[in-house]
Amino acid sequence: MRLVLLGAPGSGKGTQAQRMQARHGVPQVSTGDLLREAVAQGTPLGRAAKAVMDAGQLVADDVMLGIIRERLARPDAARGFILDGFPRTITQADGLGRLLAELRVALDSVVLMEVDAVVLQRRLTGRRSCRRCGRVFHLESNPPKPGERCTAGRPHDLFQRPDDNERTVRERLAVYGERTQPLIDYYERKGLLRRVDADGTLDEVDARIERALQRRQ
Ligand code: AP5
Repeated sequence: MRLVLLGAPGSGKGTQAQRMQARHGVPQVSTGDLLREAVAQGTPLGRAAKAVMDAGQLVADDVMLGIIRERLARPDAARGFILDGFPRTITQADGLGRLLAELRVALDSVVLMEVDAVVLQRRLTGRRSCRRCGRVFHLESNPPKPGERCTAGRPHDLFQRPDDNERTVRERLAVYGERTQPLIDYYERKGLLRRVDADGTLDEVDARIERALQRRQ
């Protein structure tokens, strides 16, 4: 399976990609997570990306294409991948197309996760992630179960992402509208786009994605 999850910040790309990767035996490739790892490690990439991410803007296309080229070359991506947060611009989508052609593979589908802006704002400001295992929760809709332990065998250590404040969320949604939404037409013209109503419980959205993947174009 070679899949792109496309959608606004907070549409549930990361949450659903985490659920899908075990079921389909292919890794989630989240460019946001890769950048946050670089920030946490204080690498030159991380130091340059931090200010851009905190402002809700996009990291440069050539940098992102370099990261994806390196990530898709790892052995676990040979059988497929679920791209989460990439591509985000037409330049990135063109670059991905060229990279996949070099690798002699192609995308199977691009799933567009549709959610309205009020719901997105609520999801992002209530999101919390575990510092240790990286799992993503929501204070109301998806809190950790009582007594639940993370992979390190200790309770989840929840934190709020620095870009999940109200002001930066507004900026990220505007950047999505301007730079990423054009990808909807781009992939529709290629016959790859499958639209999914991503407002519902986690299980409902999960089932809708699976149904959309089985639908013939
Ligand atoms: P990134 O980390 O990719 O952020 P994003 O695209 O803004 O997406 P999010 O992670 O915010 O949302 P999501 O759709 O994954 O939702 P989630 O599942 O967490 O990127 C961060 C930054 O890095 C960018 O702003 C940019 O600066 C940079 N960057 C990354 N990729 C880049 C690229 N390709 N090019 C340039 N720059 C790049 O869900 C959100 C919340 O809702 C959670 O709390 C979750 O529990 C909850 N939730 C999910 N589904 C449901 C549901 N069905 N019902 C109720 N609650 C739900």
